[in-house]
This record gives sequence, C-alpha cells and structure tokens, in this order.
Amino acid sequence: VTAVKDQLDPFSLVSDEISPLTDRLRSMVVTEVPKLASAAGYFFKKGVEGKRFRPTVLLLMATALNMPVSMPSVDRLSPTGVIDNLETELRRRQQCIAEITEMIHVASLLHDDVLDDADTRRGVSSLNSLMGNKLAVLAGNFLLSRAFVVLASLENDEIVSLIAEVVEHLITGETMQMTTTSEQRLNMQYYMEKTYYKTASLISNSCKAISLLTEQTAETSTLAYDYGKHLGLAYQLIDDVLDFTGTSASLGKSSLSDIRHGIITAPLLFAIEEFPQLGEVLQRGFDNPADIDLALDYLGRSQGIQRAKDLALKHARLAVKAIDSLPENDDEDVRQSRQALVDLTKIVIKRTK
Ligand code: FPP
Ligand code: MG
Ligand code: MG
Repeated sequence: VTAVKDQLDPFSLVSDEISPLTDRLRSMVVTEVPKLASAAGYFFKKGVEGKRFRPTVLLLMATALNMPVSMPSVDRLSPTGVIDNLETELRRRQQCIAEITEMIHVASLLHDDVLDDADTRRGVSSLNSLMGNKLAVLAGNFLLSRAFVVLASLENDEIVSLIAEVVEHLITGETMQMTTTSEQRLNMQYYMEKTYYKTASLISNSCKAISLLTEQTAETSTLAYDYGKHLGLAYQLIDDVLDFTGTSASLGKSSLSDIRHGIITAPLLFAIEEFPQLGEVLQRGFDNPADIDLALDYLGRSQGIQRAKDLALKHARLAVKAIDSLPENDDEDVRQSRQALVDLTKIVIKRTK
C-alpha cells in the first residue's frame, strides 16, 4: 500500500516537467537592467522557488482532463506523427498556463509583502526588505508584463480575458481586506468573498484555462474551475489557521501576522460566535497590544481553530467531488492524475507550513 502511495505522490508525478518549467521561468524574467533582473528573478532562484504548488496542480489537471486528440483516421495513420505533434503542442500550451500562473502568483507576493510590510518570505528576506518597496513594486509589475507576453502567445481571447479578470480579482481581494468597514471585518461572508478573490480565483480560473485549451464541454471546464476554487479556499483557510498555530520558523514568514495587521480571519470569526465579547475587542482595533493577547485567549478557549479546519475540510471534499464528477476515463495516466489531485486536497488540509 505504501509503495502505491509513494508512486502517486502528486509532486513527483510531474517533477520531470516542473524542472524544465522552472528553467523557462528563470529565462523568462531575464532583462538587461541588473537591479531589475535580480529583483524579478529573486523568487525563481534555487532554494526559494517555493513548492510550485500551482504549476503542479495545473499540470495534473491537464492530464486529468486529457482526451484523445480527435483527428480523421487518415492522419492517425500518418507517418509524420500528426497526432503526437498535436498532443505535444497542447501540452506546451498548458505548460504556458502554469508558467503564467506562477509569474502572476510571484508578482502578487512581491506586492503583498510591500502592502504587509513583511520582512521574510519563503525563509529568506522579502524583496522589499532587501531592495526596498520601490524596486519590489516595479519587479512585480515587470513579472506581470512578462506573464502577459506568454499569455498573448497563446492567441486565445477567452483565456486572455479570464486571466485579466484574475488580476482584477487579486487587486479586489487585497483592497477589500485593506478597506473594510468595522461591520465587514467581522462578517464571515465578506471574509469568504475576499478569500475567493485573493487566493482562489487565480488557481480556479487557471484550472479553467487548462480546460479551455482542450476540446472540453462547458461542464468539464466548470468542474476544473470548481476543483481549483474549493482547493484554493481550503488552502487559504488552512493558511489562516497556520497564522495562529504555526511558528515563524516553520512557516518561513511571520506568524500572528494577520491579527497584528488587524485582519480578522476564520478562526476568530468562529470564536466570536461563542464569545460575543471577543467581537467588541476586535472592533477596537489593536492600538493596545494587550488586546491581541486577550483575543488569542478567547480563541484558545473556543472551537474557532477547529471550525476553520472543518470548513477547510468541507471545501477539500467539494474539490474531490468535482474530480469525481469528471467524465469517465479509464486511461491509466488520466486516472493517476485525478487521484493525485484528490491526494493534493489531503496534503492541503494536513500541511503545517
Ligand atoms: C497573500 O496574502 C497575497 C495574495 C494571495 C494576493 C496579493 C495581491 C495583491 C498584492 C494585488 C496585486 C496583484 C498583482 C498580480 C500584482 P497574505 O498576505 O494573506 O499571505 P502571506 O502570509 O503569504 O503574506
Ligand atoms: Mg502577506
Ligand atoms: Mg497580505
């Protein structure tokens, strides 16, 4: 049983493809101005590339949706390998989506660390702390522009619109978080909406883009989107739990960062339901540091952490349901990738960093 599990490790399933993808990302962010090149390349360097979680999901999704390329039988027999070429071409285009997604993700992290005034990211200095806010903002913009060059090369209007919308969502989510009224700050629905924009939109719409490149039905594209959406929501819910339960050392970034910035996430929102007094503490803002300790004390005595984990689990199950609803396919690679996508939902729930 263990052997089968090892074989199905979602990350190792696509590691052969992730490695050249990483090389391409590095070459895509090269530019002549030395400071810009080192700023833009910072989080693509060896050791700080991160888990490449998004490219892994997207490549697995590409295989999970794989359909035999339909061609007239005359071409099927062609000695020139038309079918092979078509399949390779499709895969290359799907890899482009993974590259675009990763570049947008890193761009958003560079800007996020400016907005959050973060010192560390992925266990190293944040770019803003190393090179200053100005270069970090410029490098983020530069990565976005390089992502759009790749996007344009796909010559697919629907996907261009989709990805442009994702960038709008990232900005919307970040702005929603930054500009809440005191009522919105304690509202669970507002929190979930913000979470979708900030985190889930990128992966869900990129999963959809992977599907749009193939000849899938609208239903299948929606299932790909649903998987990404629920996986993304589960991912952020666990991220918000880890902000309370993790250590800065294990996370590679500051813990308790949300509450210190006055950002109220799911664990506290659930805790308020048990301790309405906590709501009043949180409404005061955190001008008095003792209020942070008070809030953490309420949280510790509540079911808040557990309920946030339960909500993450609910979304993880909805992600699995989307995979289970895909059109039946008995191809071994397809089956394996679908299983890997299911396994990823479990990894997201269990992760501690
Ligand atoms: C991390 O959140 C931040 C995001 C997922 C999105 C950030 C988006 C922007 C800054 C808008 C600009 C977007 C682009 C594409 C340039 P977090 O602060 O909760 O997570 P962290 O703990 O990893 O810092
Ligand atoms: Mg941040
Ligand atoms: Mg932030």
